[in-house]
This record gives sequence, C-alpha cells and structure tokens, in this order.
Amino acid sequence: MSTPYPRIAGLKDYQAFTEHLKQSNIEMPGDEEVRSGSDSPLGKPLEVHGRTIGNRFCILPMEGWDGTRDGKPTELTRRRWRNFGLSGAKLIWGGEAVAVRNDGRANPNQLVINETNLSDIASLRQELVQAHEDAFETSDDLMVGIQLTHSGRFARPNDKKRLEPRTVQRNTALDRRAGVTDDSAILSDDELSQLIDDFIVAAVAAEKAGFAFVDVKHCHGYLGHELLAGVDRPGRYGGSLENRSRFLREIVEGIRGATQLEIGVRLSVFDYVPFCPGEDRTGVPDADAEPHKVFGSTPDGLGMDLTEPSKFIQLMHDLGIRMVCTTAGSPYYNPHIQRPAYFPPSDGYHPPEDPLAGVARQIAAVAQLKQDHPEMLFIGSGYTYLQDYLPNVGQAVVDRGMADSIGLGRMVLSYPDLPADVLRGSVWQRKKVCRTFSDCTTAPRQGIISGCYPLDPFYKKMDERKQLQEIKKALANPA
Ligand SMILES: Cc1cc2nc3c(=O)[nH]c(=O)nc-3n(C[C@H](O)[C@H](O)[C@H](O)COP(=O)(O)O)c2cc1C
Ligand code: SF4
Repeated sequence: MSTPYPRIAGLKDYQAFTEHLKQSNIEMPGDEEVRSGSDSPLGKPLEVHGRTIGNRFCILPMEGWDGTRDGKPTELTRRRWRNFGLSGAKLIWGGEAVAVRNDGRANPNQLVINETNLSDIASLRQELVQAHEDAFETSDDLMVGIQLTHSGRFARPNDKKRLEPRTVQRNTALDRRAGVTDDSAILSDDELSQLIDDFIVAAVAAEKAGFAFVDVKHCHGYLGHELLAGVDRPGRYGGSLENRSRFLREIVEGIRGATQLEIGVRLSVFDYVPFCPGEDRTGVPDADAEPHKVFGSTPDGLGMDLTEPSKFIQLMHDLGIRMVCTTAGSPYYNPHIQRPAYFPPSDGYHPPEDPLAGVARQIAAVAQLKQDHPEMLFIGSGYTYLQDYLPNVGQAVVDRGMADSIGLGRMVLSYPDLPADVLRGSVWQRKKVCRTFSDCTTAPRQGIISGCYPLDPFYKKMDERKQLQEIKKALANPA
C-alpha cells in the first residue's frame, strides 16, 4: 500500500502547495516570495544571553551511529559536523546526542563525553567552527552547543541488537516493546541522583571542550522526557509536576555551580500514545497504551494539551534558561508526530494522516508557546517534510513571531548548504531536497551507520547503501 496523500515533489509550485493545504484544511503560514540577505526575516540576527546569533536557521542534533566503541568521533562524525558548519546556520543545537555515561548510549557507537574523550570532542567542535569560518569569514555570531543525554528505555550501550532499558516507571505498551517484564529496569531515586551528578560532570567537560551551552535533553521518550510523564512514579522524582521536573532543576543547579555555561532544553512539547502498524500497515494507537502517562497530551493521548509543557517552560524561565529547542513525540513509538515522512522507516507504519498535518501541528504548538512565553527563544522542528516550500513557511513563521529560529534536521543531511543558498538568494538545488525516504532512520534501526544514502553522493557510493537496499527488499517481501 502506498501513502494516499500527494507527494510534495508532485506539486508543481507554491500555489499548488497552498491549494493542497486549503483543500486538506491544514493551516500553516507561508510567503510566496522568499527574501534573502541579512535584513530578510531568516537573515536577521537574534540576541540571547548577551550574544548574537547571526541568523534564524538552526541545525538540529542528529547522530550518525558512527562513533568509536569508546565514544569518540570518527571521520564520518567529523564530516557531518563540518557540514553543519558549512551550512550557514548560526545556531548549532547540540550537534548530536552525546551520552553522559556508557549505560545511557542509544547505540554502542554513540559519542560519550568524559575526560578521556575531551580532546576528541573539542576538536570535533573546532572543525565545525573552522569550516564555518572558512566559508563565512567569522564565527563571532555562531553559537554551538552540545546535547547531553541518557537514552533511558531506549539504551543499547553494548550491542546494537540488544536493548538494555533503564526506565522511570512501568508502561505496558512500551515495556512490551523494550522487553521490560519486571521493575528491575527502573532507576531508583538514589540512582537518579547519581545520574544528575553525571550530567553535571559531563557539562564541566563540555565547557572545557569549548561549547557555549549544553542541552539537557527532555525529548523523544528518552530518560528526561520519560520522567516528565512519570505520574505514577512514587518518590522525589515522580507524581507532581514539581517532582517530575526535579531532575532538570537539580541538573541546572549543579551546572550553574560548576560552570559558566548557558543551558538549553530540547523538549517534546507534546506527545501522543505509542502507535503501531494496523491494517495495511497504517499507524493506529497501540491497544495497550496508557494515555495518562503521556506528557502534553489530551486525556485520550491522541491530541495535544500544552498546559503542563507551558508550566515546565515557565519553570525553565525561572531557572534562567532562555532557549527551548522544540520537538514532539518520539521517533520510536510515534514517528509520524515527531518527523513527518512520506516513506516510513522499516520498523514504522504508513502515516495515518497527511504528513503536512504533522508539520502544521508542531508549528501551531510552538506558536502558542511563544505567545505564552515571549521572552523565551523557541526553535521549531519537523520542517523537512515541507521540502521545496520549507523556506516559504520558515520565513513566514519567523516573520510572524511564531518561532525565533527554524530548525533543520533531515534536510541538512541531503542539502547541507540550504541555509547559505536561501540567505544568498542562490538557485534552489532541487536535486538535494530531502524527500523523506527515511533511509537515515532505517539504516541505524538495521544496525548500519546513518546517512543520506539516496541523495548524498558520499553515502550513495558506500557499500552500506547496497546492504541497506537488500535489507529493505527482504523486509518488503518476507519469505
Ligand atoms: C538520523 C537522525 C538522527 C537524529 N538524532 C537526533 C539526536 O541525536 N538528538 C535529537 O534530539 N534529535 C535527533 N533527531 C531528530 C531531529 O533532530 C529532528 O527533530 C527530526 O529529524 C525532525 O526534523 P526534520 O523534519 O527537519 O528532519 C534525529 C533525526 C534523524 C533523522
Ligand atoms: S535518507 Fe536522505 S532523503 Fe531520506 S529522509 Fe534521510 S535525509 Fe531525507
């Protein structure tokens, strides 16, 4: 079965795109003409924490499953980070998820930040900055942070095929997927206190490595995010929002005591229940879902309710945090919410809605939060599915004050110089536009390094591409 929605590449121009939105009752701002230059909406600088960020493009964190077993970057990691620097975006949100310790790695090749890996991670940042300076003369208005993580129930620290979940509460649908059958995977309060110390030690290392800020990750079903949904957890870190946010508060307090770093948070600003393939492989809510354990959703777990996320953002504000990198849901259990795509990853499901509805939902959520917290700087995500019309929508969003910066994820893997092209008013390179084939997600789910195999000439010629094609073929035609 193919996805029953028109492909963006098949819409002949901006008019056709807006006509489709109208017919589908999907509301989204957009400008017909995209402007270039430093006075354009996307070219204007931003001020935060007494620093200038030179434009309104942000590179979202994206890992490649390509570090060494001891958590150092490889040449593939370095190439990706250099591309981030070459993109022209002036805010680099974390580069990629970097584990604060081994048991928190999402895969055995995830980067780990510690004293042993310090010089390698410092040089990774430096290569990005150097690439940026070579292309754009100055890095004075470039801000680079690092994303600190513990992967919680999605940890695979030792074997890419074996989950070793550490979680904060039982969850029927997610426990089934992670193979959690008793309470032994649940971190105790004392273990969480130890983990908080590990985040603080990691932040000290990040400061030594030259990063301007750390992101204390609270998204995508990983540990920080799962804690926010820990309503049934007893003790100091569960139950009330005050307790569920204690993890962030204690980490922030520790980082402030030990470093001069700025702090940001990547937050799933809403979430839905887990989905699974239904009839024809179209996504349906998991029958075992427990909707009350979803942070930022309506009681049925199938709509967004920003009441608690907004309170959490107010708390961030009170802690002196000013930067929120927004996202939604999880790539593991509801990818159509998190990274709208036409072609699902191999372990996914066909989108149960026009993927443009998923883009519009994230834009609307961020606009609402920006209105409620105007002093906070909001970065939007999930724009890649807009494809050729990403600049039209991104420009309108920042111009109308619905977000401060437009985050780029998958698009920057296939079209790394998109921000530079838009800001210079150069010819749009259609061949490089991400068509959401999801190979960059399917590959790591099958134990292969991530990369844009269909469009990036560097990955196109790798042996892994053939391997991936064979796996995809076998999955599509099971014996
Ligand atoms: C290959 C890949 C790796 C990713 N790794 C991370 C990560 O390390 N940390 C994170 O917060 N998000 C990660 N994401 C999510 C992206 O940052 C982004 O939220 C998502 O792709 C949606 O944005 P887009 O529509 O521009 O792709 C990853 C996404 C992809 C495709
Ligand atoms: S593999 Fe390339 S084209 Fe496919 S979703 Fe990822 S970045 Fe886009």
